[in-house]
Formats: sequence, structure tokens, C-alpha cells
Amino acid sequence: MCGIVGYVGVRDATPIIINGLKRLEYRGYDSAGVAVINDNQIEVRRDAGKLSQLVDLVSKSPLNGAPGIGHTRWATHGAPSARNAHPHVSNTGKMVVVHNGIVENFLELKDELTSEGVVFNSDTDTETIVHLAENHKAAGISFEEAARRTFKQIEGANVVLLMSTEEPDKIIAARIGNAGGVVLGIGENENYLASDIPAILEHTRKVIFLESRQMAVVTREGICVETLDGEEVKPEIHVISFDAVSAEKGEYRHFMQKEIHEQVRALTDTLAGRVDFKEGRIRLPELKLTPELAKRIQRIYITACGTAAYAGMVGKYLIEKIARIPVEVVIGSEFRYSDPIVDENTVILAISQSGETADTLAAMEEGRRKGGIVWSIVNAIGSQAMRIADGYIVMQTGPEIGVASTKAFTAPLVDQYMLAILLADLRGVIDEKTRRQLVADLRLVPDLAGRVMDTEAEIEKVAHALKDIRGCLYLGRGINMPIAYEGALKLKEISYIHAEGYPAGEMKHGPIALIDEEMPVLCLAPKDPWHEKMISQIQQAKARGGMVIAVATEGDELVKSMADHVLWVPEAPWMLSPVVTVLPLQMLAYHIAAIRGLDVDQPRNLAKSVTVE
Ligand code: AGP
Repeated sequence: MCGIVGYVGVRDATPIIINGLKRLEYRGYDSAGVAVINDNQIEVRRDAGKLSQLVDLVSKSPLNGAPGIGHTRWATHGAPSARNAHPHVSNTGKMVVVHNGIVENFLELKDELTSEGVVFNSDTDTETIVHLAENHKAAGISFEEAARRTFKQIEGANVVLLMSTEEPDKIIAARIGNAGGVVLGIGENENYLASDIPAILEHTRKVIFLESRQMAVVTREGICVETLDGEEVKPEIHVISFDAVSAEKGEYRHFMQKEIHEQVRALTDTLAGRVDFKEGRIRLPELKLTPELAKRIQRIYITACGTAAYAGMVGKYLIEKIARIPVEVVIGSEFRYSDPIVDENTVILAISQSGETADTLAAMEEGRRKGGIVWSIVNAIGSQAMRIADGYIVMQTGPEIGVASTKAFTAPLVDQYMLAILLADLRGVIDEKTRRQLVADLRLVPDLAGRVMDTEAEIEKVAHALKDIRGCLYLGRGINMPIAYEGALKLKEISYIHAEGYPAGEMKHGPIALIDEEMPVLCLAPKDPWHEKMISQIQQAKARGGMVIAVATEGDELVKSMADHVLWVPEAPWMLSPVVTVLPLQMLAYHIAAIRGLDVDQPRNLAKSVTVE
């Protein structure tokens, strides 16, 4: 999770920035840096590693002056190193940038800039931003106009802060899509910018939240907000309660709601340092996967509990389809009683947000006892599931506070997609064209997720229509069948309404008897290979008087004409469609529970990590 802090005022910016970044450390990062404008010169200190190394650097070579911007970075393009750490400076040294997100069109922009003689000094997509802005500024327009034109040129979900020595009294910030927030803190004759409230809470409690496709010009005298199209915005000023925990929730009512929205940034970070878009390759170094090992794997068991198990059910489709390895999903609490067939060519892949779930750990131990290779996909750094594994993948979503798992569900979907590509590549069962396309599709994920977040108001309306239901069937097919299970679990565990996920094709073998006016049916009907089958499923449910809520791809007029309610998702490559189809189900469950006045973050009888059997 990248952290950003900026300061404009009369004090030295560096200590304010570094202390602010320390309050964002919980997100995890692999490099850090700070830049200030001092006597009309941009000065930068940056290094790979932790903030303590940056503090050492600054103590040896002090940085004075303001304004300033700072950044903690998860490597997305280019390895974690000093040369790839932010901030990045333009070729003339007159502009500097820090950035969160992925510039989806950075390859084209970089080629264009390079052909114009721009020299790149890093492997990052971020550098394209500062060179673009400098090119625009060189045409004689204002810093603000040059920044605006740049923001409109970069594609994808991004947060950007820019400074220029030609107008050294300001920082210009932009939020494009949902790659995390931009919080503007209002001080006395000084102002602050950050990617999250805790970074500036000690200085001010009056904040403005930038919305998507908005930019702000921040000086010590004031903050001007406008759209990227230049329309002035009168932003709402929020006063943050003195409770730091509620400040952690930012503009959200519950941690779960915040974490649902954080998935755009979390998905960006779960790609962090693992996707080489230029070569079309995946790197998962902590897995310690060699070509020899990849070639001799004959079977994979995916074992997990609850939501994590449903993520594994999606992983089965991905690994079997892409890497052609047989995969079996076995619930953690059943694995050690099923006398599984395991040998030295068998992988036991555990998925666990907490990394401490007793049933999942027991399954890992059973797999090891039987001589298998044990891997894990975990979120909690240093957890048992990480420590006892032969190799692991970190979800990199940042801490998940809400008991109901959201970002720790979508991250492992992408992790397993990447694992499948890597396995296929090392086993030589995928051609270059297919591999490059599968990798390129990953670049779409954060923005696709962000577009679903923009539909929350519509989903809340559907939640009001469903708030008194006494049960619900969730139906899905193919790769979206596990999303039916996960959507049902979300509703059960936070709204206490009984819900059941089912393979849609199973309905006619009994459960269809349940459908009447009192039993709504949620049908997952995106434009995937099973779309036509789901259309007839909707017809069958309607014919029995059931209310149908459909998850459908934007523009699907047929589903719209049949369903009572539609939760829209953007078109996505079918193997990545579960990442978007689950999002409206998370928000639907959240809003039903919130409308019912329930304790969304701490549902009754539940614990965040079930460390007992
Ligand atoms: C999901 O919303 C629940 N919190 C629960 O099913 C959870 O996924 C399960 O207990 C596994 O937890 P883990 O990922 O920490 O192992």
C-alpha cells in the first residue's frame, strides 16, 4: 500500500512528511522518499527499504524548506530500489512527482516521450507523469494547466502530487479513479495533503476528500478544487472526530465499507512488483518456484476456510484452465480427515487472510506430514501460514479490520491468476501470445473494480428493497459459481439473513422448490461463457414468482428486461470476472446489514481469525 504526504507552509516540510508517512506504515512498502523545494531548487532523498533508512539519509544530508512531498512505495513497475523509489524529478530538475496507482498507458507514453528525447532514469510508470507535465509546461502554459493536461492523458486509477520550481508556492494533486484517496488538510497559513487521514491528524481535523477526476491546487493560503475539465468545485469540509480509530475509517461508516473501497488500491498493490507488463511475465519470488519444480507438479490441493475457500474455488478454474494441472479444493476442516492422496509432486496451497486459522494450519501440517509441497497465500506478514510454508504469496492488501473478508477475497483471486500464468510459463504449456494477453489483462483490474465502486448509490437502493427479506438464493455458473457461495456468505454473516449459494444448474434437482414470491434469487449473469445458461435460469426463477436480482454486464438489455433489479458490472475478461462480480455482492450485503442497524464490523458470534478448531 503506497502512502503519500505533502505539506505547504512556512515550516520545514521534511519532518512533517516523514512523521506523516510513519502513520501510514501499517500499509507495508519497500521504499521511501521525500522532495522539497529549497531556494528554488528541488532536493530529493530516497532509498529502498524502510522509513528508518530514509531518516538516516536525511540526518546525514538534511533537507530544509517547503513545500514538500513524500512517498512510501510498493513496487509495481520496476524492482524496489533507490532509482525506482519516489519522488521522481523531470529532466530539467524543475518538476517532481509522487504517485499511487498504475498508469495503464505508460508504455505508449514512455515510447512517445523517449522518441522526443526525454531520458528516463527509472523503470517506473510514475516517471512518465513528471516528464509529460514538464513537456506541457515547456509550451509556456501555467503549471496548473500543464498538470491538468497531464492528468487527462494518463489512464487507469491514479493519485498524483506534483511540484514545480517555476511556481514553488504550491502542490497540485489529482485523483483519477479509485486508486486510493487524497485527503486535503486545512491548517492555519499552511495546508496538508495525504493518501489517508492518520498522516495529518496531528496537525488538523478539518479535511476535504478529493473525488475521482478532481484536482486541487494547494498553497499555504488556501485550497482550490476543480474537475479535470476545469469546473470549480465547492468541496465539503469534514471535521474528523478526535477518535483516531474513526479517523482510520476516513469518510466511511464502517471498516468493511472502507475496505470494500480499498480494493482498488489493494488490487493495485497485489500486482505490486509481480507483473512485468513489458515482457508479459509474472514474478512470485517468495514462492521459490523453479522450472524443475513447476514441471513435476502433478496435483494441487487448495485448502482454506470460509471466504478463503471460495477464493480457492475460483483458483481451481484458473489453474486448471491456464496451467492444466488438476486442482482439488478441500475445506480446511475436512482435509486431514479425507486421507488425501499426497506425494512429493503434490502441492498443498493454503489461502488465509490471518494466516492463523486453526483448520487451515492443520491442513498444511497434514500436507507436509504426507510429504507434499506446502505453499500459502496470506495477508498477515509473519503469520504461521507464512512461516511454515515452503513458499508463499503475500496478498499485500494492508490490514483487514472488518470481520467480513472483502479485499482478502479479491486479492487471492488475482494471486491465483498470476500463479496459474507463472506455472503455465515454467511448464511450457502456454504460448507467448496467450501469456502476454493474460498478463496485459491484469492492468485493467484496478480500474474495473473502481468503476463498480461508482455504482454504490444504486446498490444501496436495491439494499433498501431487500432489507426485510427472510432468505435468498445465490446462483452462479462456471467461474462465477464460487461467487454465489461468497455472496451468500457475506449476506449471512453480517445481516443474519439466511442465504444459500448454489451451482445454478443444480436448481432443477430440488432447490427450485424453494422459489416463490418470498424467496428472492440473486443470479450472477455477466457476459462470461455461461451467460446464456444464466438467462434461462432467470426465466425459470421468474416463472415461479421469484424476485430476481441479477449481476449483469453494463449494457445487457436482455437481463435488464427480465430482472427486478440489476447490479451492473463493467465488461471484464471472463477469467478475471469474479474480481468484479463479487464487488456488488459485498456492497449489497454491507448496505442491508447497515440499514438493519447491525454491527457490520463485529457481527455476532464471529471472530476475525478462528484460531480454534
Ligand atoms: C469471511 O468473511 C469470514 N471472515 C471467514 O469465512 C474467513 O474467511 C475464514 O474464517 C478464513 O479466515 P482466514 O482467511 O483468516 O483463514
